[in-house]
Amino acid sequence: MNPESLQGRVAVVTGASSGIGAAVARALAREGARVALAARRESALLEVQAGLDHRGGRVRSLVAATDVADRDQVKSLVARVEGELGPVDVLVNCAGVMYYTLMKNLREDEWERTVDVNCKGAMNCIGAVLRGMLARGRGHIITISSDAGRKVFPGLSVYSGSKFFVEALSQGLRLETAGTGIKVTTVQPGNVATDLLALSSDEEALKLYGQQSGARVLDPEDVAASVVHALGQPDHVAVNEILVEPRDEPV
Ligand SMILES: NC(=O)c1ccc[n+]([C@@H]2O[C@H](COP(=O)([O-])OP(=O)(O)OC[C@H]3O[C@@H](n4cnc5c(N)ncnc54)[C@H](OP(=O)(O)O)[C@@H]3O)[C@@H](O)[C@H]2O)c1
Repeated sequence: MNPESLQGRVAVVTGASSGIGAAVARALAREGARVALAARRESALLEVQAGLDHRGGRVRSLVAATDVADRDQVKSLVARVEGELGPVDVLVNCAGVMYYTLMKNLREDEWERTVDVNCKGAMNCIGAVLRGMLARGRGHIITISSDAGRKVFPGLSVYSGSKFFVEALSQGLRLETAGTGIKVTTVQPGNVATDLLALSSDEEALKLYGQQSGARVLDPEDVAASVVHALGQPDHVAVNEILVEPRDEPV
């Protein structure tokens, strides 16, 4: 796929109501893609949609309130996208949650939520687009993983586990679909300035491990640029993984 080929291509972006997903949606629209914005908060999605810059082109987009943890909702999302925008060329799995918490504090609801959204959510989305991509012999599945998908961070045991999961899932999918025309990419950001940290309420974990270093962290647009880079490669080139960190917070 080259940058021109994003023109008119159909992209589904989950987690598009804020942070990285919103920045990815904006970047893809700027490149000429038709973008489906999915997350639970419809009003926030509509605000992001209103800010899309289609560079004067006749680019269409749609907003679909979707809980990625619900397989039926994800299937409906993809059916709607196919009906209104066309077959899905690009899936960007960006919906995610992160709770700083210590295992000993037994925040079992947060553990489960992490698995439901980060693991099952990514699987549900892949499950909804894969057959069509295989039938058409092309497609690109990009998952916003994390540097925690490469290295376990204390205070983020379950979150790191969920990101190791999406790395393994993507690796297996990449190996199994080689030769079919499908590309599979994970983007592994370090700290990004978004609302993600605000979900955590385990003060003990936050105090021990959730403090900011003071380094300049990434902007959501920096991660979106990695997504655009992966999408902009020639057909025979696949960017498998992108580890992108704040300069002063190396892993
Ligand atoms: N910020 C970082 O430092 C960082 C670093 C590495 C990786 N990441 C990853 O980047 C991704 C995006 O996070 P962010 O930093 O941009 O945080 P964010 O601004 O909090 O965005 C999270 C997004 O996920 C959506 N979401 C949460 N639960 C959902 C559900 N059940 N169904 C559908 N959408 C859901 C949220 O939308 P609704 O609330 O509207 O549903 C929101 O759009 C996550 O996968 C995160 O793990 C972030």
